Amino acid sequence: MEFEIREMSDEEVEDVIHLEYDILGYSAFAQLSMTDYKKKVLVAVNNDEIVGVAVLYWNDEIFCLGSVAVKEEWRGKGIGKSLIRKAAEMASQLGYDSIMLEVNTANSIAVEIYRRVGFRIAEIIKHYYGIGKHAYRMMLQVQGS
Ligand SMILES: CC(C)(COP(=O)(O)OP(=O)(O)OC[C@H]1O[C@@H](n2cnc3c(N)ncnc32)[C@H](O)[C@@H]1OP(=O)(O)O)[C@@H](O)C(=O)NCCC(=O)NCCS
Repeated sequence: MEFEIREMSDEEVEDVIHLEYDILGYSAFAQLSMTDYKKKVLVAVNNDEIVGVAVLYWNDEIFCLGSVAVKEEWRGKGIGKSLIRKAAEMASQLGYDSIMLEVNTANSIAVEIYRRVGFRIAEIIKHYYGIGKHAYRMMLQVQGS
């Protein structure tokens, strides 16, 4: 199954926001557009169709993975992992030595994928997503350049 990972173009902003809403119920990209963080969106593309996205953001201190989402019919083909690995590559190129993310403790599929890529649980943030909905803060060490 062929797919390409690249940066989102300006013409693709709407598609990315729709994809995030459809899969996640919110758009990390839209939320981040109101902040001072620097950000970048990676898209996984097959024949001009965006099948997955990852949102990255950073400031002078931290580099974060805001979200990863892959269309349901495209899951299990390595797209999620490729997006996460590309994010790690970008963090490294920008000179960061780690990537941070928060994920719902109930989202066991995502937690497992992050672990397989090398993320480790750094802490549990209680009630991060609302009462009784906790988050893991996970960290991946990357080779800063
Ligand atoms: C999490 C998500 C991005 C993963 O995308 P994906 O393209 O399916 O991931 P990959 O194909 O790279 O799979 C990575 C690993 O997870 C495993 N995996 C994939 N789907 C799985 C499932 N339903 N159950 C168990 N393991 C699964 C794969 O076997 C693979 O492991 P392996 O290569 O070591 O065998 C996708 O499931 C998704 O969009 N989920 C909804 C949004 C979400 O929860 N995002 C994360 C929080 S922002």
